[in-house]
Amino acid sequence: MNLFDVYPINDITIVKAKGSYVWDDKGEQYLDLYGGHAVISIGHTHPHYVQRLTEQLNKVGFYSNSIKIPLQQELAQKLGKVSGKADYQLFLCNSGAEANENALKLASFYNNRKKIIAFTKAFHGRTSLAVAATDNPNIVAPVNQTDNVIFLPFNDETALEDCFSKQGNEISSVIIEGIQGVGGINVANETFLKKIRSLCDEYGAVYIADSIQCGYGRSGKFFSHDFAGVQADIYTMAKGMGNGFPVAGIIIAPHIKSKHYMLGTTFGGNHLACAAALAVLEVMEEEKLMGNAATVGLYLREELKKIPQLKNIRGRGLMIGFDVTEDFKELRKNLLWNQKVFTGEAKPNVIRLLPSLALRKRDAEQFIDSIKEEIQQMVSSENPVV
Ligand SMILES: Cc1ncc(COP(=O)(O)O)c(C=O)c1O
Repeated sequence: MNLFDVYPINDITIVKAKGSYVWDDKGEQYLDLYGGHAVISIGHTHPHYVQRLTEQLNKVGFYSNSIKIPLQQELAQKLGKVSGKADYQLFLCNSGAEANENALKLASFYNNRKKIIAFTKAFHGRTSLAVAATDNPNIVAPVNQTDNVIFLPFNDETALEDCFSKQGNEISSVIIEGIQGVGGINVANETFLKKIRSLCDEYGAVYIADSIQCGYGRSGKFFSHDFAGVQADIYTMAKGMGNGFPVAGIIIAPHIKSKHYMLGTTFGGNHLACAAALAVLEVMEEEKLMGNAATVGLYLREELKKIPQLKNIRGRGLMIGFDVTEDFKELRKNLLWNQKVFTGEAKPNVIRLLPSLALRKRDAEQFIDSIKEEIQQMVSSENPVV
């Protein structure tokens, strides 16, 4: 049997990983500023994480949600403390798309409405409602198409106000990434998020903060939406939550009440998933990784701004993007193959940095040296000395 070929892949096989580094089967070392797509939050194979998961696996790996799983309660407590949302309620699932799917569905149960507002360049996942709220027609199958999702321009307060004034009583929820990831690292304005909050309050709609890529401390705050100083009704999270173990969740404000069977999952919140998520939060707290993300992220952005070939450096904490001009469109590929540095991309010519929140200053310095060297190489091969 062959694999269903849906990913353009790099010809690299990773066999070992530690902190912000990975090694291939030929022994080559790479600096990882991609984190397997913003997933590696506390660093690869962190000893506390490995130990907690191993110990849990030796006790019990899985049982369903039909019995008590005290680890879930422990996780809820810890998450409430680290995120500063102790009064919220936690529902656990397995992936980002599933988290958004559950959030959108829960909002609809809550206010008995159907319409969702999403924004240009949004990415919310590939399941039916999540993909319908994603601004990329190429990944929306005919069966996913629905008139229930209204796309508005990102950061456009007037368009949002207009939409609410025309059909505010039909709007179930507004879903927005605090920093768009797949869309190219676009930060939601604080005034825009405040406007979403006030319009949702006025019209009884639910504000859903998609924190799957921008959350879990990556921005330097636990949720990047919280820079706006207002609370969302539901925050969705995945990626960094398990440092590679598939675990996701939504946290729900106290005024939204649960009913038996309204949401459910087989695998969500299993023993191993909770152990992984707890290990991540314990390391984040112990090693003050949110502070590290803020400091090292700022250093990176400041240094990147000094490189004239890189344009429009943006982002928060360790979620950073910049544009490269047409002449340098091979930069990302060259960084990988020549400098042995993994980075992320966004179309057309955006490089995205999504490293572990434990990225050290010296790793960041190494990256800055690599990118300068690679740009220098590219410049001199364009203009060879004769
Ligand atoms: C903002 C955002 N939401 C949702 C998702 C979907 O997450 P998953 O791939 O775990 O389903 C992603 C994945 O990239 C994302 O970046």
